[in-house]
Amino acid sequence: MKVLVTGGLGFIGSSFCRYMLTEHPDCELINIDKIGIGANPANLQGVDNDKRYTFIKGDICNPQLINRLVHQVDAVINIAAETHVDRSISDPNVFLQNNTVGTFTILEAIRRHNHKARFIQVSTDEVYGEALTGSFTENTPPKPSNPYSASKAAADMFALSYQRTYGLNITLTRCTNNFGPYQLPEKLIPKTIIRALRDLPIPLYGKGQNIRDWLYVTDHCCAINTVLKDGKPGEIYNISASNEIPNIEIVKKILTQLKKPQTLITFVEDRPGHDLRYSLDSQKIQTQLNWKPKAGFEDSLTSTVEWYLQNERWWTPFATDVILHPTPWRIGGLH
Ligand SMILES: NC(=O)c1ccc[n+]([C@@H]2O[C@H](COP(=O)([O-])OP(=O)(O)OC[C@H]3O[C@@H](n4cnc5c(N)ncnc54)[C@H](O)[C@@H]3O)[C@@H](O)[C@H]2O)c1
Repeated sequence: MKVLVTGGLGFIGSSFCRYMLTEHPDCELINIDKIGIGANPANLQGVDNDKRYTFIKGDICNPQLINRLVHQVDAVINIAAETHVDRSISDPNVFLQNNTVGTFTILEAIRRHNHKARFIQVSTDEVYGEALTGSFTENTPPKPSNPYSASKAAADMFALSYQRTYGLNITLTRCTNNFGPYQLPEKLIPKTIIRALRDLPIPLYGKGQNIRDWLYVTDHCCAINTVLKDGKPGEIYNISASNEIPNIEIVKKILTQLKKPQTLITFVEDRPGHDLRYSLDSQKIQTQLNWKPKAGFEDSLTSTVEWYLQNERWWTPFATDVILHPTPWRIGGLH
């Protein structure tokens, strides 16, 4: 099978490329990435020599390029996106373009040039909005709270409409917060590790009580591949490992592992529109497609912290003051 992966130099995309090339000797990958904020070519060092792997620097919003690539493949996994909620608050237009128009560009290419191609849209639990009680199922209507989740929800709606109207082979996945190696330092877990190692204050929005549901990145990649193989057109599959934890508890665990004082925790003004809790019910993928998360949360968090300790050369170029600023949605450079 020949697969076009978009955003394959980012955190989840690079993990997915490694996963597929390791687990599926018969697959061929084309990775298109514009080398934007989340991208790091070092994420796929070693893989770039694999004959089954081709990298193309390019933008999913470029119809000529996407038309040409879609023509050559059996499936497209759309992982590319602008992903940081804080950045979406300071510059929403970039999110509309890359996340919504970018997805639309791929859908149009498939509709016009390769009607049979399989399309997986990698989406997020954030499209459902805040989960004050219970867990969201795939039947919960989207109610996004910020420009990032709105841009992803809009892309999801286009994808579902193209399946229904044009009969395309399209399936959606919606996952919870991922963690693991190679995640850009502006996200909670790597930011906490890196700032703690430098004895810098660890910023936490509000009182740190926001709850996120954590999924180890390799489990997520396995789930995407399961949906690629067995998912039904027009369906949505939630992906969760049911590890719901308040942000402050994650930060405390990391500080304990690094033997750093909890006094580094600093509460900062909350992010506007901040959802208190996300929670997904992933019974559908577990019962219908037989996917289950394998990674234990505590062990995976410990090994992730260890990975950052061992790979300082990977993250040092990205650990700038801007990336590590306590409240990125407020700082001048991002407005
Ligand atoms: N990280 C999470 O916890 C999480 C949770 C739920 C859903 N998701 C979804 O998973 C996907 C990947 O997230 P991530 O954390 O790996 O992000 P990331 O920021 O690490 O990587 C995104 C990649 O997409 C590329 N990209 C962005 N716009 C592009 C464009 N127009 N053309 C080509 N490439 C482009 C970037 O250069 C980058 O390499 C996103 O769609 C995101 O919405 C992520």
